[in-house]
Amino acid sequence: MSNKTEQNDLMEKIVSLCKRRGFVFPSSEIYGGLANTWDFGPMGVLLKNNFKELWWKIFVQEREDMVGLESSIIMNPRVWEASGHVSEFADMLIDCKKCKNRFRADHLVEDATGIDIEGKSPEEAAKVIEKNKVKCPACGKIDWTKARNFNLLFKTYIGAIEDEKAIAYLRGETAQGMFVDFKEILNSSRQKIPFGIAQVGKSFRNEVTPGNFIFRTREFEIAELEYFMSPKADWRKIFDSWLKVMQRLANEIGLNEKDIHFHDIPKEKRAHYSKKTVDVEYNYPFGQSELWGLAYRTDYDLKKHQEYSGKDLSYTDPKTNEKYIPHVVEPSMGVERSLLAILCAAYTEEKIEKETRIVMKFPKNLAPIKIAVFPLLKNKPELVEKAHDIFDSLKLSYVCEFDDNGNIGKRYRRQDEIGTPYCVTVDFDSVKDDAVTVRNRDTMEQKRVKIAGLEAFFSKNFGK
Ligand code: GAP
Repeated sequence: MSNKTEQNDLMEKIVSLCKRRGFVFPSSEIYGGLANTWDFGPMGVLLKNNFKELWWKIFVQEREDMVGLESSIIMNPRVWEASGHVSEFADMLIDCKKCKNRFRADHLVEDATGIDIEGKSPEEAAKVIEKNKVKCPACGKIDWTKARNFNLLFKTYIGAIEDEKAIAYLRGETAQGMFVDFKEILNSSRQKIPFGIAQVGKSFRNEVTPGNFIFRTREFEIAELEYFMSPKADWRKIFDSWLKVMQRLANEIGLNEKDIHFHDIPKEKRAHYSKKTVDVEYNYPFGQSELWGLAYRTDYDLKKHQEYSGKDLSYTDPKTNEKYIPHVVEPSMGVERSLLAILCAAYTEEKIEKETRIVMKFPKNLAPIKIAVFPLLKNKPELVEKAHDIFDSLKLSYVCEFDDNGNIGKRYRRQDEIGTPYCVTVDFDSVKDDAVTVRNRDTMEQKRVKIAGLEAFFSKNFGK
């Protein structure tokens, strides 16, 4: 992309399309909204479900060594003490005393000086800020509060009395469910190490600086898995094999290879539990940034839970009788962040004569609506009836939309913007020849197809 204005424009165009076509819009807007909270509308929820379904297919269904889990969002608070989230899961923040704006200290310093202070203490950060005379990006003054660490876990209280004993946390990652339920799943499934437990679900983080649309929010979904292995296993090989699966997912959701980067995260910037992390980064319109992460969590979590719970979380190899605490490799993928990348990759503008056609070129399996069915005119009962019959014959196999509103050009434009791969139009000839016009989203080619042959046509084109 050529310059910042164009990049901002593109982001604005995507946000605007998302609202206009019912993908994503600001939450509780009738009350003025709530900053950085977003709702997924009719198209958004279908797109999200399709992504999660594809994720599950690739990471769980196609494998013999994976099982699923849905654990609670609110767990025993000891889980988060043991995992280190209560003490370690923090961002450093700093306030401008003049304009009262709040910033993440690492972002502030990096944007102003290019110096990376992630992993440094608040005192060290303050020194860098002072030495480099870092100005407030909002008001230009240099008048900072002390930098301080801020825990990202959302706190809540269980029951009627809001005291220390009633504190609980909304989960900051789904991963802890897989660790605390490890033994339960081992005992109730047929799995033996190596195997993995996967989960897709909501997580909550009280982010200091959420933003960039659905890129960083306080409530989001994570699709992740913990892959348990022997401490003697070749963890690098397992790590690399999961990276390949993540690459496959990137490919299947339509991300261009040139927009994907792999970033080996240095020690001081890794999460407290990780011995190696590779971030998969994407070229968003606002710049290259994290999309997904892959971490080698060692036996950190199970060991901690064994220590804090007093329960034996070791595994005994049925063949060798060897007893050990398993080590873990964890591919972790934000659902909304994936959706943002999918939306950016799919967004296409095409010049057609004097007009610009906006089309979302989603891979077919992700498209919210697979087939749109139109009667050419809504006041011609014979066309409307035929179109309803076609809708009814296809709806069990495909998510279809019936639309008889406005002129046909507008209907095509709407379907292009929601990324529908095929539109079927019933016209006056259809009554005579029992055929319809099928329009292809990407080529705009229009083909005459016999109504009796539609099932076969779509089954071939959707690869069913
Ligand atoms: N269990 C590991 C874990 O949670 P993470 O890198 O902190 O790792 C996993 O988060 C993924 O969740 C990230 O790679 C990103 O895709 C997504 N993610 C993290 N914080 C997010 C936020 N505030 N808003 C949206 N997505 C987020």
